[in-house]
Amino acid sequence: MKAARIVPGPEGGRLEILDIPVPVPGPGQLLVRVAASGLNRGEIKQVRNAVKGAPFTAGVEFAGIVSAVGAGVTGWKEGDRVMGHGNGGQAEYVLAAARAVMLVPAQLSWLEAAAFPNVFITAHDALVTNGEFRPGESVLVNAASSGIGLAAIQIAARMGAAKVIATSRSAAKAGRLAEYGVTHAIDLSTQDQVEAMHAATGGRGVDVIVDSVGGTVFEANLQSLAVKGRLVNLGRLSGSNTATMNLETLWLKRLKLIGVTFRTRSEEERLACIEACARDVLPLVQAGSIRFPIDRTYRLDDVAAAHEYIQADRHFGKIVLVVAPELCGAEGSEP
Ligand SMILES: NC(=O)c1ccc[n+]([C@@H]2O[C@H](COP(=O)([O-])OP(=O)(O)OC[C@H]3O[C@@H](n4cnc5c(N)ncnc54)[C@H](OP(=O)(O)O)[C@@H]3O)[C@@H](O)[C@H]2O)c1
Repeated sequence: MKAARIVPGPEGGRLEILDIPVPVPGPGQLLVRVAASGLNRGEIKQVRNAVKGAPFTAGVEFAGIVSAVGAGVTGWKEGDRVMGHGNGGQAEYVLAAARAVMLVPAQLSWLEAAAFPNVFITAHDALVTNGEFRPGESVLVNAASSGIGLAAIQIAARMGAAKVIATSRSAAKAGRLAEYGVTHAIDLSTQDQVEAMHAATGGRGVDVIVDSVGGTVFEANLQSLAVKGRLVNLGRLSGSNTATMNLETLWLKRLKLIGVTFRTRSEEERLACIEACARDVLPLVQAGSIRFPIDRTYRLDDVAAAHEYIQADRHFGKIVLVVAPELCGAEGSEP
């Protein structure tokens, strides 16, 4: 089968389309024929950081058709349309833990299904499980035009946030956020986050922040939080890993600072994140309340071009690789 492989090298890895054997599902696993696979920002770093070890298949999510079922699996059968979270999705076939996949809601296309798992599982885990968001609270999402950001703002809005405040460095992107449930979009090219945020909340601040930008916005985020606010950091898009803080702010506002990543999670913790997202977000998808902005699609063969495009930061929402054009049909148009 054809697969996008990350081939490590001393100067950093490179992406190659290689022919490798179709894997065989073990106990508790499914073999999925992949229709499409979403791209995620973390994959750029994964290639760059691959300096040693064996080649491995790229991708952290996929949508496709179950083509074989391993021993002991219940609830899934050949032919089921599934979308799932797990490594190796950018190939014609992928192995998945049976608990890591969800049935694709009937109204979703393959491209939409491929755009769902990673960003919605991550955003739900950040906002709801770790951020302890409750209906009626207010939320701030940094870098809201990212795949993660658009998932977080929609979950917040559909689960009953009083205010959904969101930042973008682009006026054009900020202008599109209201369509996804944002009540106050902050255009950082002309506005200051803290001033705009205080104007939006009457000086109170927000209850939860979902932040993927990191060091450059840390101080503004602390100032944007209400008493008993929770700051959940899941990425460092700014490239800045460090920040300083006045501990008096932490103390007086009784804040919680939380980091989330899949890198230090056990398999059981990862599966629990997927199941929690399925419990809360799938009903919203089935009700037609969630949208999947897909900026561009690329063929599997063009995965390197897709990586270049994502780094240019021109996109709004997801970039999806079409792995089986015969399944995606007209959906798989070239950019
Ligand atoms: N912790 C986890 O479990 C987990 C899981 C998945 C992803 N992540 C992380 O989440 C982040 C978002 O991933 P994604 O795939 O959703 O990204 P993405 O779709 O590629 O997001 C790109 C957007 O982020 C904004 N951005 C880029 N550089 C920025 C900077 N220096 N300062 C402020 N904003 C910046 C830009 O939006 P504007 O042009 O609108 O400003 C850009 O269009 C990444 O850091 C990724 O590694 C973490």
